Amino acid sequence: MTYNNILSEFNNGITTITINRPKKLNALNKETIQELHEAFKAADADKNTKVVIVTGSGEKAFVAGADISEFADFDVENGGKLAAKGQELLFDFVENLSTPVIAAVNGFALGGGLELAMACHFRVASDNAKMGLPETSLGVIPGYGGTQRLPQLIGKGRAMELVMTAGMIDAQTAHNYGLVNHVTTVDELLPLAEKIAGKIMRNSSVAISKAIKAVNANYKDGVDGFAVEIEEFGNCFGTADFKEGTSAFLEKRKADFPGE
Ligand code: COA
Repeated sequence: MTYNNILSEFNNGITTITINRPKKLNALNKETIQELHEAFKAADADKNTKVVIVTGSGEKAFVAGADISEFADFDVENGGKLAAKGQELLFDFVENLSTPVIAAVNGFALGGGLELAMACHFRVASDNAKMGLPETSLGVIPGYGGTQRLPQLIGKGRAMELVMTAGMIDAQTAHNYGLVNHVTTVDELLPLAEKIAGKIMRNSSVAISKAIKAVNANYKDGVDGFAVEIEEFGNCFGTADFKEGTSAFLEKRKADFPGE
């Protein structure tokens, strides 16, 4: 499939999705959000894709936010629709994908860019990365899940300060806050993400998809995460991956998971 604003490449069990509007610092316009939706959906449906990595093209930005030129003249109704549609197509969609998604943050991750990174299952960053939610400097608030996911990841007080100041933090601070799991050089960023993906791929993709569901359940209103965990734990016992994983252990050999 060809896209106008993104690239999607498959290699060794990994689909790497690159947001490719470097002249606009990879800002998320409507078409890019739709294309990302299609690419994530296709990767999730592809049995050979065990991990998705998302990154930005160019040396400057992961994503510098939602495309401001597209919403500058919106009214209340259109503003609400913009946030709802974006969350449905991309941010909630990525968070609930059954395939693990790693954000490789390679520069500015601002507004919708940080919100996209936060919707991913976890994040690694290059040492030139800068992260923030500058929306209040534009007279709006984060609308793609930022007010919810940032406090979940770094705590309420730090999130409040970042949102209120519209400030940016560097990669090391993001690491200290637990917003990114690892920081490395620009050149080592994708190799690091791929190395972690390699470790993930050794394990049961079926079990991992159930773990994603159970972990996410903790953050959903009205859902008992412990009940989801119990249910998904039980469901694992009906899978071929469970039979292979436990047999391989008892037979003292490496598991070869069928992914079913
Ligand atoms: N939406 C639309 N266009 C954007 C954009 C965004 N969020 N972020 C950057 N761009 C565009 C710029 O308008 C510029 O386009 P032009 O060359 O046609 O004028 C191009 O990307 C390069 O950006 P520029 O501002 O010249 O780069 P810089 O290095 O001077 O500054 C930033 C980098 C990230 C600090 C700055 O671009 C910025 O503040 N962007 C907006 C961040 C933001 O508020 N995001 C939240 C949106 S809700």
